[in-house]
Amino acid sequence: MGLGYVGLTTAAAFAARGRTVVGYDSDPARRAVVRAGRAPVQEPGLSALLRRAVRAGRLAVADDPIDLARRSDLVFVCVPTPSRSDGSIDLSYVRAACRTVGGSLRKVRGWRAVVLKSTVVPGTTDGVAGPILARASRRTLGRTLGAASNPEFLAEGTAVRDALAPSRIVLGVSDARTEAALRAAYRGFRASTVVLSPTAAELVKYGSNAMLATRVSFANELAGLAERLRVDVYPVMRAIGLDPRIGPRFLDAGPGFGGSCFTKDLRALLAQASSLRVALPVSSGALSVNASQAIHVVDLAERAAGSLRGVKVALLGLSFKPGTGDVRESRAFPMLRELLRRGARVRLHDPEAGPSFVALLGPRPGGRVRLVPDLASAIRGADLALIQCDWDSYRRAPVSLWGRLARKLVVDARRTLDPAALARSGVRYVAVGR
Ligand SMILES: NC(=O)c1ccc[n+]([C@@H]2O[C@H](COP(=O)([O-])OP(=O)(O)OC[C@H]3O[C@@H](n4cnc5c(N)ncnc54)[C@H](O)[C@@H]3O)[C@@H](O)[C@H]2O)c1
Repeated sequence: MGLGYVGLTTAAAFAARGRTVVGYDSDPARRAVVRAGRAPVQEPGLSALLRRAVRAGRLAVADDPIDLARRSDLVFVCVPTPSRSDGSIDLSYVRAACRTVGGSLRKVRGWRAVVLKSTVVPGTTDGVAGPILARASRRTLGRTLGAASNPEFLAEGTAVRDALAPSRIVLGVSDARTEAALRAAYRGFRASTVVLSPTAAELVKYGSNAMLATRVSFANELAGLAERLRVDVYPVMRAIGLDPRIGPRFLDAGPGFGGSCFTKDLRALLAQASSLRVALPVSSGALSVNASQAIHVVDLAERAAGSLRGVKVALLGLSFKPGTGDVRESRAFPMLRELLRRGARVRLHDPEAGPSFVALLGPRPGGRVRLVPDLASAIRGADLALIQCDWDSYRRAPVSLWGRLARKLVVDARRTLDPAALARSGVRYVAVGR
């Protein structure tokens, strides 16, 4: 249920491992695209895997949830779980999907289990999904119906690889039959399997995202200090990461984390903890460091330029990370707002995400923002460039291009460019944590 990033990748990965998968999405247009073996979301390798699965007859799309329920032993719910305005989780899609699956199960015979793959706050499978499913299906949990949690850890950009070779498989189950069915579904995946209660499994997902977000914010916190000490935080973090107790990943200082998950999940975790009167100062700190980091990057630009009033800035890289057209929670949004607040004129460029960024931007402030189609025209006529996302095409651009900036100044939030090469061309280079 739900053929987005997670649902489709999961479906394609199960099919690749020899399972037979039936997908359903409430959006008929999306069903038609997937049925034709195409991916409606951009993700490396996904189209090829889907096409193969559809051609081999291992992946079909149902137009009716009753058909889906009839043809499946396990139903994986992969629908969105956005934030409400107060940061708490919006479970309306999960509730609706559970009502639909539950109602469909009334029309079919035999045992079935429903598995939440959507990221949900701890307690949702047992406290929300299970009861809705039991009521709507008129079945008894633990007898003719299973309800389980199986959180997903894939990352956009590497979703196919992550789904085919997961770091771990976490099964949150309450009964042996559901556990056995899930183990059978994951046969051939060769990853450690951890079996927990549904609530504990749900906490693993939030804990993982809070930990990763905390590492990024910690690196950014240290980067601020390194800037004052005039040392480069990158080799410092690499040396810190060589400690096997720490490890090297997610310690890159930069503009802060974006993407559809970290901010949303941290806010949901904090809202749940607060409703339980539990303080989470570390996770809450990770979020507030992240909010100030995008502003800090603009500070670096302002300091280097003297003032941003009337300055023409090329804001390069609008997606939340390279390799994806996804702009959700991209740090380019707060950076753009701050640049405009300080009086800059901004040319936006991204190799893929330009139109989706502009679509989410809303009404454009006073004609001071313009989306341009290629890097050269973004740089031509700009005073300085601010790199928010380290696309390879920026890295590969000839050094002479950066020399065309009127003030010959690059502010690099992601260590995209080679400072020595820029210096040889007379371009000033400012970066986070340096
Ligand atoms: N995107 C990621 O990188 C990622 C990683 C891990 C976990 N997650 C979690 O997985 C869940 C899904 O995320 P996503 O990125 O795949 O979302 P998405 O928006 O890409 O896809 C969700 C799909 O669900 C469909 N849908 C909505 N309501 C439905 C219903 N009642 N019945 C059938 N289909 C319905 C939508 O049409 C859409 O196609 C979220 O909880 C998210 O937090 C996402």
